[in-house]
Amino acid sequence: MHVLGIETSCDETSAAVVTNGKTIRSNIVVSSLSQHKKYGGVIPEIASRRQLQYINDVLHCALDEAKIPLSRINSIAVTSHPGLIGSLLVGLSFSKAIAAALNKPLIEVDHIKAHLYANFLRTKDENHKTPQLPAVGLVVSGGHTSLFHVKNVNTFKLIGQTRDDAVGEAYDKVGRILDLGYPGGPIIDKLAQQKRKSDISFTCAPLTDTLDFSFSGIKTAVLYYKNDHAPLSKDTKAKISFSFQKSVVSILVKKAIAACLKMKTQTLLVGGGVAANSDLRKQLNQAALKHDISVHFPPMSLCIDNAAMIAGLGFHAEQRRTRKNA
Ligand code: KG4
Ligand code: ZN
Repeated sequence: MHVLGIETSCDETSAAVVTNGKTIRSNIVVSSLSQHKKYGGVIPEIASRRQLQYINDVLHCALDEAKIPLSRINSIAVTSHPGLIGSLLVGLSFSKAIAAALNKPLIEVDHIKAHLYANFLRTKDENHKTPQLPAVGLVVSGGHTSLFHVKNVNTFKLIGQTRDDAVGEAYDKVGRILDLGYPGGPIIDKLAQQKRKSDISFTCAPLTDTLDFSFSGIKTAVLYYKNDHAPLSKDTKAKISFSFQKSVVSILVKKAIAACLKMKTQTLLVGGGVAANSDLRKQLNQAALKHDISVHFPPMSLCIDNAAMIAGLGFHAEQRRTRKNA
């Protein structure tokens, strides 16, 4: 069964063809990021206008690369939420039109859950190990920081989330405070790697006895530090990046492992843009090993927003719908 996926929730325009919820035939992602950089964040109006412009070509690229014509597509999966409303509307309207024209089912997919599903997709990596379920899922992106109990691919229960900023948002805001450029996440990750220790220290609110997170305090602490010490040298920015990242990663690792212990699961799925973070990967792998937990990160290409994860999760939603109607 071939599912066409369409993703337009933020600044990416993506189309993908995935077979049986697993094998990626194509996954085309075009970003308008370069056009937002000078504003220090995504401008919704620019994002949706670019998506309108790109989406038809992106679809045809995905079908060509998959060597599967539209007539052989069995259903269409599209990101329905959450996201920028104008951007979501481009993908949703486009997908509804294709589904109506082909007389095929349209499946609406939750973007956050799809980030975790990225771990079940197979690219050309032959050694891909399919994660065992139930699992705990940690979603770390520009818009969300959530912990889920994933009973099966159709059943996700929210067990923790940020009470204010998302972790990627905190990275991007700190990037802006330090004048590092947008998005701040990958730049801070790189800068932090220049240091092994730092005499400047920042800490995240621990929020004990809960699986919730808070990242707005640490971002404000960085702002106050800058206001008191400006202008900041390159070396100081690296020290701040190191300390900020250390604290953020440590709280993510602590809560993710606590969630696995609480839910008594030996599988941890990670997804979202911040899953590309080098220190998070390293620290989570080490902590998971200690607790005999198997931790899964999607390949880098599937950490960012992409339509393959939408098509993959959409396949299972469609299977469930047909089973129910049988
Ligand atoms: O999942 P995503 O592509 O978009 C949303 O759905 O929000 O995530 C984008 C976020 C940005 O905030 C970006 O700064 C962050 O992921 N990011 C990183 C890294 N690469 C991307 N954050 C920390 N370290 C990285 N290496
Ligand atoms: Zn995302």
